[in-house]
Amino acid sequence: MSDRILIIGSSGQIGTELVMRLRSIYGNDNVIASDIKDAAPEVMESGPFEVIDGKNRDQVFYVVKKHKITQVYLLAAMLSATAERHVEAGWSLNMRTLSHVLDMGKDKIIKKIYWPSSIAVFGPNTPRILTPQHTIMDPNTVYGISKLSGERWCDYYNQKFGVDVRSIRYPGIISWKADPGGGTTDYAVEIFHKALKEGKYTSFLSENTELPMMYMPDALDATINLMEAPVEQIGIRSSYNVAGVSFTPKKIAEEIKKHIPNFEIDYAPDYRQPIADSWPQSIDDSVAREQWGWRHNYGLEEMTVDMLTNLKIKFGM
Ligand code: SER
Repeated sequence: MSDRILIIGSSGQIGTELVMRLRSIYGNDNVIASDIKDAAPEVMESGPFEVIDGKNRDQVFYVVKKHKITQVYLLAAMLSATAERHVEAGWSLNMRTLSHVLDMGKDKIIKKIYWPSSIAVFGPNTPRILTPQHTIMDPNTVYGISKLSGERWCDYYNQKFGVDVRSIRYPGIISWKADPGGGTTDYAVEIFHKALKEGKYTSFLSENTELPMMYMPDALDATINLMEAPVEQIGIRSSYNVAGVSFTPKKIAEEIKKHIPNFEIDYAPDYRQPIADSWPQSIDDSVAREQWGWRHNYGLEEMTVDMLTNLKIKFGM
């Protein structure tokens, strides 16, 4: 029987693109998109879509049964900045959906699970440069605490119940198709929009705040390569460090200026600054590289060119 895939959270920044990529691999009808809100037109029009709230076990179970789902990609989450402002809702969404899906793995209803973790699992006492796979983890955000708890549950369900769950600690994801929402790294997407539309941007992070980032095509490759890797290559069941490119607001502004010479940036750090200050500046992803052959393709230069080119077309410029 062919794989039947459910994506929970298909209307978000990553979901929008991951659905289309998975449909191109597994066939449109074998990839069921789902979210609490409608997805992008290309997602709605190219294959099945279900409205479900991932927190509601019965709704998830119904859709899994109805479509004979074998794999779930659980992307629904409240990101770092929003979850600080909605503590209960963030914790509930981020934890409950995961436990429903892990239980379906334990009960052998589904065979494989993808669940993203984040660089937010690290905290103020984590070594910030080339943060190792195994290190001090003391997150001080709701989002980070939920992701670290989730990692421990994934590892537990794998060890105790043999659940095939796989995970990546995403850095900030940069993309042009769908907007990010509620993250501390979102400035690195907004800056491109503002540069093209207004020629200036006020960054909510200070000029030298360095964070790990990744361009969407690399994030999609990482996700799919991990899910398709032979089971014996998967030595980590909490979540893998993966790295793309690290930069500061100042550095990305300089890169944009190469293409938009009059672009101006200033800085007004807000409540998101302390969140960024608690996260790594760069990530050591050698374990992912060794175990399942991860490597990234996009550096800052290539990413900037591709973002500007695609956003100009999107904005009709
Ligand atoms: N991009 C996320 C955030 O900023 C990190 O996983 O919340």
